[in-house]
Amino acid sequence: MILVTGATGKLGRLVIEELLKKVPASQVVAAARNPEKAGDLAARGVQVRKADYSQPETLGPALAGVEKVLLISSSEVGKRAQQHQAVVEAARKAGVRLLAYTSVLHADRSKMALAAEHKATEEAIRASGLPYVFLRNGWYIENYTENLGPTLAHGAFMGSAGEGRIAAATRADYAAAAVAVLTGSGHENKVYELAGDTPFTMAELATEVSRQAGKTIGYNNLPPEQYQAALVGVGVPGPFAAVLVDSDVNAAQGSLDDSSGDLRRLIGRPTTPLADAVAAALKR
Ligand SMILES: NC(=O)c1ccc[n+]([C@@H]2O[C@H](COP(=O)([O-])OP(=O)(O)OC[C@H]3O[C@@H](n4cnc5c(N)ncnc54)[C@H](OP(=O)(O)O)[C@@H]3O)[C@@H](O)[C@H]2O)c1
Repeated sequence: MILVTGATGKLGRLVIEELLKKVPASQVVAAARNPEKAGDLAARGVQVRKADYSQPETLGPALAGVEKVLLISSSEVGKRAQQHQAVVEAARKAGVRLLAYTSVLHADRSKMALAAEHKATEEAIRASGLPYVFLRNGWYIENYTENLGPTLAHGAFMGSAGEGRIAAATRADYAAAAVAVLTGSGHENKVYELAGDTPFTMAELATEVSRQAGKTIGYNNLPPEQYQAALVGVGVPGPFAAVLVDSDVNAAQGSLDDSSGDLRRLIGRPTTPLADAVAAALKR
């Protein structure tokens, strides 16, 4: 059986859908902190089990009979190293044959603040002795396209990413890579740097959105302090705004760029072009 944690999240749902194309539903376990959110999956024959990273007592039972695990990193920034450690410990006790983990691009050398918890998790996984795969996901294109309304209304993206090249890819492409690893062979103890085929700058993203939206959208590159203030001004909590600003400052230095080609190799096709992702977002 293959278990996917965070199965009710956006990436988790895409992984489950992709898995169901390849293996019978009875072989898929959707692990969720709120199992009631996965009623639709249960109705399709997927086993839904409770697994809350912050409740270690839920993790052992969730892993019973499971051979392969995809640990989707928690969204609770700041608690993640400890939460993930609990999953690693439960997976070790359960003796799983493969633990795949959605990490961050260049986790071992990235200077992004967000990378620290991923690096700690990778270290915990290696220390567990379990066969592992690190799926070091780059940025989601959807980070920019999911909520285009305010950008279109204001006529500009804002940020501090400067001219940094961002090799983002769609969640669906990262999900397909995870499923390739979970259903394929020969991935034990491999590290994949997953990123889109064609990196873009924020100005290039703005140009593509302008072209498709029929309206000029700019890129307002701000000094970090101003970007922080602007984020807080639109209601983003200060500590999270700081994380976003830090990510952009590092993106300006190339932290989100990559040309390994690992993602296209794993999914066996080119990654989804930015233009397609923008078109999908504008259609919504
Ligand atoms: N590469 C990128 O650009 C990028 C961007 C954002 C986030 N991320 C990372 O990638 C992960 C997946 O992305 P996503 O878009 O699917 O995020 P998402 O939609 O926010 O999903 C996060 C999932 O984590 C689950 N979760 C949170 N706390 C948990 C806990 N204590 N125990 C068990 N599950 C818990 C959530 O459960 P509920 O469904 O109950 O809320 C949800 O299913 C995120 O969690 C984050 O670590 C990456």
